[in-house]
Amino acid sequence: MYNFDQIIDRFGTNALNTDGFRGYIFKAGPEKVFPYKDDEFIRMWVADMEFAVAPEIQEALHARVDRQIYGYTGIYDREYYDVFVKWCKDHYDWTFPAEELCYSPGIIPALYQITELLCLPEEKTILNTPAYAFFVHTATYAGVNVLQSPLKRDENGEYSIDFDNFEAQCANPQAKLVFWCNPQNPTGRVWTEDELTKVAEIVRRYNLWIVSDEIHCDLTRCDQQHIPMAKVMPDYPKLITCMAPTKTFNLAGLSFSNIIIRDPVLRERFKARDKLNGMVNCLSYVAAKAAYEKGGAWHEALKQYLDENFKFVQTFLKENLPEAVMPISQATYLAWADLSKCLPDVEDMADFFANEAGVLLEGGNAMFVGNAEGYVRLNLAMPRSVLQEGLKRMSDAVCRHRQSI
Ligand SMILES: Cc1ncc(COP(=O)(O)O)c(C=O)c1O
Repeated sequence: MYNFDQIIDRFGTNALNTDGFRGYIFKAGPEKVFPYKDDEFIRMWVADMEFAVAPEIQEALHARVDRQIYGYTGIYDREYYDVFVKWCKDHYDWTFPAEELCYSPGIIPALYQITELLCLPEEKTILNTPAYAFFVHTATYAGVNVLQSPLKRDENGEYSIDFDNFEAQCANPQAKLVFWCNPQNPTGRVWTEDELTKVAEIVRRYNLWIVSDEIHCDLTRCDQQHIPMAKVMPDYPKLITCMAPTKTFNLAGLSFSNIIIRDPVLRERFKARDKLNGMVNCLSYVAAKAAYEKGGAWHEALKQYLDENFKFVQTFLKENLPEAVMPISQATYLAWADLSKCLPDVEDMADFFANEAGVLLEGGNAMFVGNAEGYVRLNLAMPRSVLQEGLKRMSDAVCRHRQSI
């Protein structure tokens, strides 16, 4: 019913994915040239998908466009809350009071705002590495320092929390705010109830604020279950939960996210500092509501397609690049692969694969804060035929490189 094999041309839409990669990955402008033309790259980098959005969302957008007027828009009724909270109840057996729901064009702007609101210059934020780089950017912007707690990794590439280290960071007298990422970007870990409970105990013990960034929560593998931190800490006031339809339904360009703030004082301050003054984009709102209300079947089909893509990649790597270590991510459409044994002498993986394979991907330490040497992050949310071509190019490039040294 839904066609995830369709190849869709994105050029000419000013997509970051197609047109912004030089700046984002290579910190370069048009002067940076590659042996491949821009439209020849296989793009396995930024976290949006090469799939068409659900037809149910397209229909809702068309219907809104037909109303012909795009005036100032806010959210004045309970319809969106009702739809979103039903989604949370159905998927996570979790609900929250309507007044806690705030909106932001994105989780990134909300993280900037929350960090500034909560942290004084001498205070520190805490994160696990490897990490989503914006957790550091927000701290830098707010002028606060970051305490890093590296995740542990076993020989199979499976990640776990170093609780002793995490507690040591939390015990720092200047620690104020934990950026918790679940499912974790880039490792794809879905934290278990046991792990979440231990983290919650530590956060509570040191009376810290915690932002639980759960933007990838709807994109678990079919055999995994996401647990919101809010369920594990049902009464903890200093918790902020971030979720969004943008990753799940490929709506990143429509900029809309749910920021659930329990503490009434922080909530009022968050709203008071809202530079959009409570306005939302009228099309974004329509798409988000349609997604949660009508996107369920598409979402299920997407998850199955992504599961198959992961299996496909793992089989391909076993056969063609057996030294690569890539456990199937428990969530996200992002594979996190250790290529250090395949390319021990290559420092800049993104540059290598762009030049030698015509594949755009994100390299470990350069993009994910630290604890990521020799890793690449591969976006697998694309038609399988494109994925196959990307992998083939990558393994051919590795073989050629080995022969040349
Ligand atoms: C963990 C995490 N948080 C936030 C974002 C971005 O959120 P938004 O597009 O809502 O600003 C991403 C995007 O990749 C992400 O991986």
